[in-house]
Amino acid sequence: MKKTVLTFAKAKENGEKLTMLTAYDYSTAKLIDQAGIDAILVGDSLGNVMLGYEDTLSVTVDDMIHHGAAVARGAKEALVVIDMPFMSYQTSVYDAVVNAGRLMKEGRAQAVKLEGGVEVAPQIKAIVDAGIPVMAHIGLTPQSINAFGGFKVQGKSEAQAKKLIEDALAVQEAGAFAVTLECVPEKLATLVTKKLYIPTIGIGAGAGCDGQVLVYADMLGMFSDFTPKFVKRFAETGQLMMEAFKAYIEEVKAGTYPEAKHTYAIDDDVIEKLY
Ligand code: KIV
Repeated sequence: MKKTVLTFAKAKENGEKLTMLTAYDYSTAKLIDQAGIDAILVGDSLGNVMLGYEDTLSVTVDDMIHHGAAVARGAKEALVVIDMPFMSYQTSVYDAVVNAGRLMKEGRAQAVKLEGGVEVAPQIKAIVDAGIPVMAHIGLTPQSINAFGGFKVQGKSEAQAKKLIEDALAVQEAGAFAVTLECVPEKLATLVTKKLYIPTIGIGAGAGCDGQVLVYADMLGMFSDFTPKFVKRFAETGQLMMEAFKAYIEEVKAGTYPEAKHTYAIDDDVIEKLY
């Protein structure tokens, strides 16, 4: 059965952990979905992982639609959330609703995610009023990397911690159905989780959150440009891929692949007439 925002609400009510991973293509989404995940995030991290940018700022709404629609075709049960990329919602409430609408209509998402707290609460409210569920994202928000001056843990000082709590309450008040907490000290994330009636989904925010999200290529050891402290490699898939690519190259060079069983037959009397 398709998971929905109600799955998220019920999990919080029942104290059950929520699971989320990113995906950016049909085949990966299908595998993750079949594994039984609650939600798939088409993150704008696709800018790093799929497109090779050094940050997420160049990602466009069209990029998100292209990858999002592929993921939506592969995800039969998981809730699909598509990220709103940089400058698709910060510019105005109008832009936010129009672009969220495109992600739903053309990307076939069931929800959108956007970064920011108090300052984007009007956008969240307008998108939710248009019938589109919103997941918020606070703490380290990679689209503001230039304002932060790098990828840094957020909320460590008293002022920053108070701001994080204000942001969490503001996005909840604006109607977000869940909030991602990225790179936040564990005790602060646990406190925020206790204060909210909507679920918190942590990434680098410790075990006290209501759920967890990771970039799939990080947890499979497939993306090595940078590896944050919070990443656990659940498999060395990158290594396995490398071994398979090398074996393929060796076999083709040696003429041991393809074998007879990998080829198609033709009647000898047909082929003889061609010589
Ligand atoms: O873009 C992304 O993958 C994200 C996660 C890191 C939460 O926003």
